[in-house]
Amino acid sequence: MATIYPHLALDDIIVLASPIYFYGVTAQLKTVIDRCQQFWTTPSRRKAARVGVLLLTAGAKDAQGTGVDTTVAATRVFLTCIGAPLTHIVAATHTDVVPAVAQGEVLRQATAIAAHLAQAKRGGLSLE
Ligand SMILES: Cc1cc2nc3c(=O)[nH]c(=O)nc-3n(C[C@H](O)[C@H](O)[C@H](O)COP(=O)(O)O)c2cc1C
Repeated sequence: MATIYPHLALDDIIVLASPIYFYGVTAQLKTVIDRCQQFWTTPSRRKAARVGVLLLTAGAKDAQGTGVDTTVAATRVFLTCIGAPLTHIVAATHTDVVPAVAQGEVLRQATAIAAHLAQAKRGGLSLE
């Protein structure tokens, strides 16, 4: 966490990535999230006006069965708490049948978001 805290506090773009496990993020990512209460109690410890991005994979196909909605809701609260409100979500679902690397449209979406954010950052524009 000593390595991660400065990035969570100051980086302009925070990207969370996780497979969906039982309608939530992995235990490993949740452990990091649960070490960040300091940003809630002392918001001055982190920079404001940044952006948060969420990358998810899910085995199930349909939106209701995957847990995407519950995972987005929980991570949205976390990202708001650290000053990087969630602006972009990429979710590769149905990975039990079609691996994420074979989902061209999802990969294109992720690449487009990365290009947009990189360009906005270089140009000093709003990252949203
Ligand atoms: C413990 C566990 C729980 C899972 N829970 C869900 C779930 O709630 N919804 C879903 O759609 N897929 C679920 N899956 C499937 C994973 O989200 C899916 O296989 C994902 O692509 C795995 O990524 P990984 O190979 O990087 O672990 C679960 C898989 C595991 C191992």
